[in-house]
Amino acid sequence: MQHSEQGTLPEADSISAAHSALVARHVSDKIAAAGGCISFAAYMHEVLYAPGLGYYSAGAAKFGPDGDFTTAPEVSSLFAYVIARQCAATLAEVRTNYGQASILEFGAGSGKLAADILTRLKELDALPDSYRILEVSADLRERQESHIKSAVPELASRVMWLDHLPDEHHGVVLANEVLDAMPVERFIRRSNHVAQLCVEVEDDHFTLVERVAPALLAEAVASIEKDLGQRLPDAYVSEVNLAAAAWVADIAATLRAGMALLFDYGVSRREYYAADRSDGWLRCHFRHHAHADALILPGIQDITSWVDFSAAASVAIDSGLSIAGYVSQAHFLVNGGLTEELADFTELAPAAQLRLSAQVKILTLPGEMGENFKCLGMSRALDNLPSSFATADRTFSL
Ligand SMILES: C[S@@+](CC[C@H](N)C(=O)[O-])C[C@H]1O[C@@H](n2cnc3c(N)ncnc32)[C@H](O)[C@@H]1O
Repeated sequence: MQHSEQGTLPEADSISAAHSALVARHVSDKIAAAGGCISFAAYMHEVLYAPGLGYYSAGAAKFGPDGDFTTAPEVSSLFAYVIARQCAATLAEVRTNYGQASILEFGAGSGKLAADILTRLKELDALPDSYRILEVSADLRERQESHIKSAVPELASRVMWLDHLPDEHHGVVLANEVLDAMPVERFIRRSNHVAQLCVEVEDDHFTLVERVAPALLAEAVASIEKDLGQRLPDAYVSEVNLAAAAWVADIAATLRAGMALLFDYGVSRREYYAADRSDGWLRCHFRHHAHADALILPGIQDITSWVDFSAAASVAIDSGLSIAGYVSQAHFLVNGGLTEELADFTELAPAAQLRLSAQVKILTLPGEMGENFKCLGMSRALDNLPSSFATADRTFSL
């Protein structure tokens, strides 16, 4: 069994352990080449995305019971069906006004969300012109292609994989648990400066070391403190996703008309940097065990960080988008048509009813995914906003 700060983790099987040793060697080489340490963000990038080695780039199962974590599309197709209902109205309006309407999904995981959305949109007679996927992992891209070809063969020709953002997009942009998978900088507030947490090698393991923060990170922390109206406490540790701003700005530049829906676990900036959250929001997932030690199991565990939704919303507004709403996942689903999706519930066999109720509970209960997961909706040139934001909108909190 592998021990972490949070207790005991399951043992890695021999193939995974051998792969992790390769990744550790790769990261150690990077650290040596950089003169002894690399930023935490650079470490996270290598262990998650180094070609052929990183957690997302190599062949680990990742999603579902055989993997390390389960995302909403993997829990239940209901998640995709409600999103499809929301897409249908937007696609129709955008097509009427601009003559075209497509969906663009970032980080499509196993491809299940795409296949389920297309299935429901076909039933609603509201298919997009194309379903574009932008995926950074070659391994996942292959997996997505194979799942979509077998799950919806008649619709597979509408799906295309892009290597970079298109110049323009009309329709819907989707991203489920993509922001939380981006490498983050970790920092620690000292009495007279901000330090960047970096990773170095000590004996045969990785450890954190402090360096004076580079200008970009120091400025980001200064901007957080300005928004909070006070300095963070001494020894306060947290994260900043420096890549998120450019990512949201790129989406805004591409989206000419329609809406973007970002789903993730996250909170407002005030909650993110609350004084009692003095150890940040980093979470690691290994074989369905959650813990906070990102320096172990390199390349074979997922590393994520909760999302500062205020930061994303502020870039969106600065880039000319409107905020359509910010709601919990439970409210997104209930406002967006979950009840209608369950209209035939009483006609189902008891076993199917039990299965579906269990899925609904995971998607919507506050102690499961219902409250921690949020949806931030952003729109441009859209007259009719999605019904998902009709009640319990907490945009005011951002
Ligand atoms: C936690 S997984 C979520 C997968 C899927 N959306 C789901 O809900 O099951 C994160 C996904 O985002 C992808 N990803 C991370 N950064 C990305 C980026 N900048 N652009 C596109 N995809 C990205 C990863 O390769 C992976 O497919």
